[in-house]
Amino acid sequence: MPVSERADHYAVIGNPVAHSKSPLIHGEFSRQTGQDMLYEAILAPIDGFAAAVADFTRRGGKGLNVTVPFKLEAFGIATPTARAEAAQAVNTLMLEGDTILGDNTDGAGLVRDITANLGFTLAGKRVLLIGAGGAARGVIMPLLEREPRILVIANRTQERAYGLQQRFASFGNILAIDYTDLHREQFDLVINATSASLNGELPPLPAGIFAGESLAYDIMYGSGHTPFLQFAKMQGAARLADGIGMLVEQAAESFFVWRGIRPGTASVIEMFRYHA
Ligand code: ATR
Repeated sequence: MPVSERADHYAVIGNPVAHSKSPLIHGEFSRQTGQDMLYEAILAPIDGFAAAVADFTRRGGKGLNVTVPFKLEAFGIATPTARAEAAQAVNTLMLEGDTILGDNTDGAGLVRDITANLGFTLAGKRVLLIGAGGAARGVIMPLLEREPRILVIANRTQERAYGLQQRFASFGNILAIDYTDLHREQFDLVINATSASLNGELPPLPAGIFAGESLAYDIMYGSGHTPFLQFAKMQGAARLADGIGMLVEQAAESFFVWRGIRPGTASVIEMFRYHA
């Protein structure tokens, strides 16, 4: 169905934003579901995020995806959902007149990729989450909701991991430990939520942390395996996954929040995996 003049208007807002795959993904979703919507990319000045959101709202915009570096600022201007509150960050805005609702679909996207796409059951499993920054914070609640046996957090700056343990202790079995103590443990799932891969770096992980049949998941993606996935492969992790599935699933969750329809994701993930 072609986009009409009355199409509902959405966009991704960031700085930079030209690299964003969101217009492509949401274009596919709207074609697939027959929704009459237009999706663009908005480059907001670093000090002009709130003004750009207000301008988009004035022009009749219905919703925004928020990317770097504005996820914290978006949290500041929006009424947050429970999962945005837990993440202390917003990646999805719903613009309803004077009301700006802020949601966070990153964690739901990760969990859906792990469980629905990769067929990995989280309940009862030993999970290691590496990193304690914004990305890690956003995935803790959705992971704990699936009731792993334990969720261990390790981070270069140890205090940040301990802070997250304290914050989320009442929601499940969560434990912060130092990298140097990890050699005593084995995990069924290891998630790299650090930004180390962006710089071609590997967090200081000891050998022997991957249990048999384990899954190694890097929330980053790029051409070829990240340093973390190379390490996991050498260490005998049974399965490797990068963040492309999470990227597409968090978009699908945003689409669902806006339109009430859940688009299929398999063809879009495949498109990125083999043709991007
Ligand atoms: P993001 O929003 O992507 O999570 P962030 O909040 O800056 O970004 O957090 C980056 C995370 O990656 C942090 O956990 C950081 O560790 P510190 O808290 O010690 O800074 C982690 N990180 C980045 N580079 C790393 C590296 N080379 N080795 C280990 N951890 C790294």
